[in-house]
Amino acid sequence: MTRILAIETSCDETAAAIVENGRHLLSNVVATQIELHSRFGGVFPEVASRQHVLAIQPAIQQALQEAGVAHVRALDAIAVTQGPGLAGSLLVGVNAAKGLAFASGLPLLAVNHLEGHIYSNWIEAPGRPAMPESNFPAVILIVSGGHTELILMSGHGQYRQLGATLDDAAGEAFDKVARLLNLGFPGGPAMQRTAQTGNAQRFALPRPLLQNGEHRFNFSFSGLKTAMLNLTRQLAAKGEDLHDPQLLADLAASFQVAVADVLVHKMADAAATFGARQVCICGGVSANALLRSTAQSRFDAMHLPLYIPPLSLCTDNAAMIGAAAFYRWRDTTKMANGLSLDVVPNLPLPHWAVVGE
Ligand code: KG4
Ligand code: ZN
Repeated sequence: MTRILAIETSCDETAAAIVENGRHLLSNVVATQIELHSRFGGVFPEVASRQHVLAIQPAIQQALQEAGVAHVRALDAIAVTQGPGLAGSLLVGVNAAKGLAFASGLPLLAVNHLEGHIYSNWIEAPGRPAMPESNFPAVILIVSGGHTELILMSGHGQYRQLGATLDDAAGEAFDKVARLLNLGFPGGPAMQRTAQTGNAQRFALPRPLLQNGEHRFNFSFSGLKTAMLNLTRQLAAKGEDLHDPQLLADLAASFQVAVADVLVHKMADAAATFGARQVCICGGVSANALLRSTAQSRFDAMHLPLYIPPLSLCTDNAAMIGAAAFYRWRDTTKMANGLSLDVVPNLPLPHWAVVGE
């Protein structure tokens, strides 16, 4: 049995969790800063790191307590997000993890945040099947506030990037359009709520890069954002009231369906092209109900098992960092990082040197 304390502070959630054997959550604490940042309409980096400093120790203590762990020394390793993310935010988590690793003598495992999102699918949660231990190749769609990537995963820790966004990430597009429509922060959940009563067919929006060709597996969302900006200007020029709830709902619904269409289309194309045996979606935007249902019907039709984390594990959390750390620890015969570990704000997805490779 391997129990890992995981710490995640890459953006605006201060999170700590205890994960057993990569799959079983003993505790999962997320102290969100959403309220703090909402008055700025986005994440304010200095405010985020200062808040992490205040919240990190209580989050770790709570994670230990809820898991019934009397002391860190009773665990097997400390895992922490090294990047990508905001430098000042990452530093708080990395320093806390280094301090604990030094004091306890436990190994320190640095984890890539995106890899954490991927491994959120391996965590067991009530009411849904977790990803099988090993069923590759898998096509993974990572859709978060900072990233939109299509990955071909051929084994644990073996990633090939098939495509990524050329400009805005999907979550960023949700956030920017929500700001344009004055719906508040974070934009994704606000857009989903507003879209609920909307007619997604009312406005025909572009489906960027849907054609085959060199950008077959890449994404672009800034054109869609501009289309929304132009559309709202045209509507205002025609004297439409941009505060009208039905108009806002139709705008949000039309935008949401355009994003979901493109994401699922490219993911399904990649799954068919690379012979995926399973597919999964992860990252904050995977909480989106329309994206989830659109993907479910598409992959049901293709008879491909689709995995999406439960809502609590879609957005940033430390449980996913503990899951990713466990699989690397297991498959690289316990490779750990040194205490000189530093943050890497633009850290690319790693490729583990798996034993026997
Ligand atoms: O993974 P995450 O928590 O943080 C990053 O690593 O970026 O993702 C946050 C992003 C935000 O852009 C947020 O608006 C989006 O995920 N998001 C959603 C939904 N919930 C969160 N986007 C669409 N629909 C949602 N329900
Ligand atoms: Zn994230």
